[in-house]
Amino acid sequence: MTKQVKKKPRWSHKDLLGLEYLSREDIELLLDTGDSFREILDRSIKKVPALRGKTVVNLFYEPSTRTRVSFEIAAKRLSADVINIATETSSVKKGETLNDTGKNIEALKADVIVVRHNCSGAAAMLARNVNISIVNAGDGWHEHPTQGLLDIMTLRKKLGHIEGLKVSIIGDIAHSRVARSNIWGLTKLGAKVTVCAPSMLIPPGIEKMGVSVADDIDDALGEADAVNVLRMQLERDEKAMFPQQSEYFKTFGITEERLKKAKKNIVIMHPGPINRGIEISSKIADGANSVILEQVTNGIAVRMAVLFWLSQAKRDK
Ligand code: CP
Repeated sequence: MTKQVKKKPRWSHKDLLGLEYLSREDIELLLDTGDSFREILDRSIKKVPALRGKTVVNLFYEPSTRTRVSFEIAAKRLSADVINIATETSSVKKGETLNDTGKNIEALKADVIVVRHNCSGAAAMLARNVNISIVNAGDGWHEHPTQGLLDIMTLRKKLGHIEGLKVSIIGDIAHSRVARSNIWGLTKLGAKVTVCAPSMLIPPGIEKMGVSVADDIDDALGEADAVNVLRMQLERDEKAMFPQQSEYFKTFGITEERLKKAKKNIVIMHPGPINRGIEISSKIADGANSVILEQVTNGIAVRMAVLFWLSQAKRDK
């Protein structure tokens, strides 16, 4: 009898810039590793030594609660040292460029920079200019890969698989890096994705990403196994493009009434922060079908997986 040799998992990326640039195998490796790390979070001593001696720097040019805290906890659970740079109180205020800040953090011997920036492509530019690992924690409207991963991890834990699932993404698709990362990740894993929003919030040509577009929210909800509800990005400059909030809630808001026509066990996700009463009602956000807070917890596990594999890739060189 021939002995089956288990293939050693491989990770060859220096950076995590987007799910567009990962293979199905890369994504599954991160999800499987995230599942293993998730168990550590329920232990009384929530720490393993995997990143002992490594330094992770959180460099956030935009506000964040979930992503920044989650990366900090993820790094600490792996025993890394963590530095948080608040750009408001750093030399960014004196005009230092992103590249110069990144090169100085590299010179300070950090191993990973987790960067959030309002410009699409900022993380990729930094990755080209430093030798240490860059993790994109959200760049403009481009991608938010760890949010995509934690959404997919939550869905996979809840429903057992991704292949063949019908997932609807509802809301401000045009301005959403979360939508883009979800679309790349879900379609690579074989889900059928539908996007739904007022026409001004659907980017032209989105079908080329392998998704269907629904104008009517009842169509988007009808057959869906899960729905990812996006936030109306009220802080953006393009507010003139946005529909009236009360009108939006009436036409596209996720409410109890609307969910009566959906599958009984439909999974309700939201990346946060929530605008209650605009894109989702409080009853649904806090109700039995919602996995919104599970997403937040799973975010730590999947970010542990990302930091772990980036550190492995560097050691393999
Ligand atoms: N989902 C998300 O990115 O939330 P924060 O902006 O709080 O990080």
